[in-house]
Amino acid sequence: MKLPHHLTVRKGHLHIAGQDCVSLAERYGTPLYVTSEDRVVEQFESYKKALGARYPKVKVLFAAKANGNLALMRALAKKGAGADVFSSGELHLAIAAGMAPENLLFNGSSKTPADLKLAVEKGVKVSLDSLDELHQLDAVAGAAGKTVKVSFRVNPALEVPTHPKIATGLATSKFGIPHGEIPAAYREALACKNVQPVGIHCHIGSQILDIDPFIRAAEVMVRIVRELTAMGVRLEFVDLGGGLGIPYHHDTDPAPTAEDYAAGVVPVFRAGMESCGIAPELWVEPGRSLVADSTVLLTRVNSTKKAHKRFANVDAGFNLLIRPAMYDSYHEVIVANKADAPLTTEYTVTGPICESGDILAPDRKLPEIAAGDIIAVLDAGAYGFAMSSQYNCRPRCPEVLLHGGQASLMRRGETIADITAAMERPAWQE
Ligand code: LLP
Repeated sequence: MKLPHHLTVRKGHLHIAGQDCVSLAERYGTPLYVTSEDRVVEQFESYKKALGARYPKVKVLFAAKANGNLALMRALAKKGAGADVFSSGELHLAIAAGMAPENLLFNGSSKTPADLKLAVEKGVKVSLDSLDELHQLDAVAGAAGKTVKVSFRVNPALEVPTHPKIATGLATSKFGIPHGEIPAAYREALACKNVQPVGIHCHIGSQILDIDPFIRAAEVMVRIVRELTAMGVRLEFVDLGGGLGIPYHHDTDPAPTAEDYAAGVVPVFRAGMESCGIAPELWVEPGRSLVADSTVLLTRVNSTKKAHKRFANVDAGFNLLIRPAMYDSYHEVIVANKADAPLTTEYTVTGPICESGDILAPDRKLPEIAAGDIIAVLDAGAYGFAMSSQYNCRPRCPEVLLHGGQASLMRRGETIADITAAMERPAWQE
């Protein structure tokens, strides 16, 4: 199987960033998320370099929903990353990680009054999803005696080649304002006293392996920018969203890079802005492509059995990685302690959750497996821990961060006491 350079096989063991996955599993226990900080930084730098080489004013905002660990976000903040935040919680994380408020965009299709108040208080820009929200924000900003810089999220009505649950710019999608109604929305914003429309934003979907849809989105945005500029909107930034996919099938998926993305999108964007006579900042909001392949989920085999097929029952399930159950997503798996053994036997790797759908990897050719073996689920850094739950009263597992030759917990494992701590006893049960 093709592996990115931070994953290697030495003496039969899978290594990540030079560290033995089997030793890490022994030291910290399983299940365990392990992330290479250096890989995340490398991916971030590749976006900055590829875009920066083609356009002078670029901001790369990390989509915090993909992986909200503070240590990881701190590493990105140190490199100058901003963030696309989708909740007050993510906004708090980004600020705690040291990201500058001017590098944050508060996105969201259903913000609460408290979200809007926090955005105003922290002085971050807000991407608006409806006219209702525009007027609510205008009132909140007015009450605070502040002016808020905003963008609208455009629904570009684009079909994209990805799973329907993660295509976000379809005409039928819940996100954004239909592209035809965008000029009217800006007209309404220009008439508001306490908001200043300075940006425009779109996001067409996630796990897109083809550059063409991004180019089409950029074309739609250029058309809209032209109209807005003619109306007198002075745009400071154009945010083209995230969405670049990664090759989950290592040997067969195309593997578009930040360089491919920039080479396709920036010329269209640049020429478009020049033709409008403006030079706004270009923002992008990658999530998955920055963090997905930085991380493995290590899980121990509790037992194997042969029923109508062979099952390897492991200690991580959709409580920790819901993508296979939710989107039928494919993740490569490697038996970390038998990483160069011949792939002789077909197994379905199943989690410990009481649901038939709790399957991490169906029908995979693997080496012969025994209880105690460590399975590494690859590409687990995006929407992995971030979407985890405590279902079946299972505490969430620890996360370890690697950097240079070092390893450190970046989140301790939860305990049952953590789960029960938030539960209250109603007075009538005293
Ligand atoms: N910006 C906005 C406004 C978004 O909604 C998203 C993702 C991103 C940026 C980052 O997209 P990315 O670069 O990661 O594709 N849980 C799903 C993915 C949901 C994506 C939601 N929005 C999964 O596990 O595949």
